[in-house]
Amino acid sequence: MKNLIIRPETKDDYFNAEYMTKKAFWNLHRPGCDEHYLVHLLRGSEDYIEELSRVAELDDKIVGGIYYSKAYVLDGDKKVDVLTFGPLCVEPDYQNKGIGGALLAVTIKEARERGHKGIIIFGEPGYYPKHGFKTCDQFGITTKEGKNFDAFMGYEIVPDAFREIHGRFYESEVFEQLDADRVEEFDMEFPYMEKLKLPGQWS
Ligand SMILES: CC(C)(COP(=O)(O)OP(=O)(O)OC[C@H]1O[C@@H](n2cnc3c(N)ncnc32)[C@H](O)[C@@H]1OP(=O)(O)O)[C@@H](O)C(=O)NCCC(=O)NCCS
Repeated sequence: MKNLIIRPETKDDYFNAEYMTKKAFWNLHRPGCDEHYLVHLLRGSEDYIEELSRVAELDDKIVGGIYYSKAYVLDGDKKVDVLTFGPLCVEPDYQNKGIGGALLAVTIKEARERGHKGIIIFGEPGYYPKHGFKTCDQFGITTKEGKNFDAFMGYEIVPDAFREIHGRFYESEVFEQLDADRVEEFDMEFPYMEKLKLPGQWS
């Protein structure tokens, strides 16, 4: 896509990037969504990795974004640093045009250049395997509860980076700070969208 720019976010983008995130996740997994609040919280967290996070701009409009944060695998008593990202999202009208793929490709390249070894995420099991992600059972890595499932995936930035690592995955506490009342209050800053209960939602 000729006019697509993948670039670091600036303060002037914050509202538009959060609104784009709201539109991408609204009524997707549950009535409404909290991912725009997650983006807001992440930026203020010590775990946020600003230098890897990117927005996608098309014709002066923010149409996508990817937000990285620090995570680790606890292997015995050793904490092994890994990356995670979330959300990765593209505004609905602009989906399936390669923007999500471009955000992934640019940031994985940047992460490699900065010496990061691997990424672990919770994500859409139908999407990420196309970009080289594998389920974490193949690496001997589980969630912090000791579980594996299709949505729990990893990507070795450095080949075989996870071969010697076994243990449980921990992400930033920010992901657990999405208090429903705060989300509701935060959401009032954005244009109203109707919450709908739809088939296929998780809850
Ligand atoms: C998932 C998402 C980031 C992908 O970005 P995108 O720019 O739309 O996708 P791309 O153009 O890079 O890739 C398109 C391909 O991915 C597939 N794809 C897109 N979204 C998908 C999804 N949710 N699950 C499975 N496959 C998906 C398309 O079918 C297409 O496949 P093809 O290449 O075989 O035709 C975007 O659709 C989105 O924001 N969705 C809503 C929020 C979300 O689910 N984010 C991911 C959370 S983990």
